[in-house]
Amino acid sequence: MDLKTAKVLITGGSSGIGFATARVLIAVGAKVAITGRDESKLKAAAVELKALAIHADVSVHADVTRMVDEIVQAFGSFNVLINNAGIGSFASLVDLELAEFRRIMDTNVFGAMLAGQAAARHFIANGKGGNIINIASTAAQRGFAGGTAYTASKFAVAAMTECWRAELRGHDIRVMQVNPSEVVTEFQGCMGRQQVVNETKLRASEIAHAIKAMLEMDDRGFIPELTVWATNPK
Ligand SMILES: NC(=O)c1ccc[n+]([C@@H]2O[C@H](COP(=O)([O-])OP(=O)(O)OC[C@H]3O[C@@H](n4cnc5c(N)ncnc54)[C@H](OP(=O)(O)O)[C@@H]3O)[C@@H](O)[C@H]2O)c1
Repeated sequence: MDLKTAKVLITGGSSGIGFATARVLIAVGAKVAITGRDESKLKAAAVELKALAIHADVSVHADVTRMVDEIVQAFGSFNVLINNAGIGSFASLVDLELAEFRRIMDTNVFGAMLAGQAAARHFIANGKGGNIINIASTAAQRGFAGGTAYTASKFAVAAMTECWRAELRGHDIRVMQVNPSEVVTEFQGCMGRQQVVNETKLRASEIAHAIKAMLEMDDRGFIPELTVWATNPK
């Protein structure tokens, strides 16, 4: 697509990968709306980016409905959803609390489904195709110790991506998935790790670059899935 015609909704755009992606797309002429739960953080990010701020929690159905209404009201329509809002939580099976597992699924899976559903309905009604990029993870490709909740949520995102692709191709909607390996963002705090500067690990800008490349391919084709690794992480 011509990115100058892109009207983009990025869930969870107030930091990390969503923020970096908004910056890259706005720089090439796209109109971008970002969402998040923390309103002051969201507003500060939107001012810095010159993006539209939509205060919405993807795990709340009414918020998702309003989120789509607000972007349509502001931009007339939209043609890209970047399903990025996500949280992490890591505990061994023997320590994992069911409530915590549900909290992860509420945002990473049910929130992504609600946003994808609302976007797909809008794209189909519009009759002009569209783009959905689901941000999964390399945790959508293999499990690891302590990853039950997060890995299950990202495998579910990968499963939904395949189903949506099968349903939506006939409407000219490109459904794509990005699997970042470890990226240094605020997300690392969820893992109990300190966010330290590490020149060998991925930055959010590498993922933003991958997303831009996927979107700017001519609509005739699309990249179903793209995995991004750090070259030599230490
Ligand atoms: N960093 C990594 O190593 C890594 C690797 C692979 C995949 N990913 C995935 O990449 C995506 C972005 O993560 P990130 O690393 O950029 O993390 P981040 O810096 O923590 O950003 C997450 C964003 O999502 C928002 N958010 C979280 N829950 C939300 C909800 N329920 N509704 C709306 N917004 C919500 C956050 O804002 P609020 O908290 O204010 O809502 C924030 O804007 C996630 O799906 C994550 O699983 C990250």
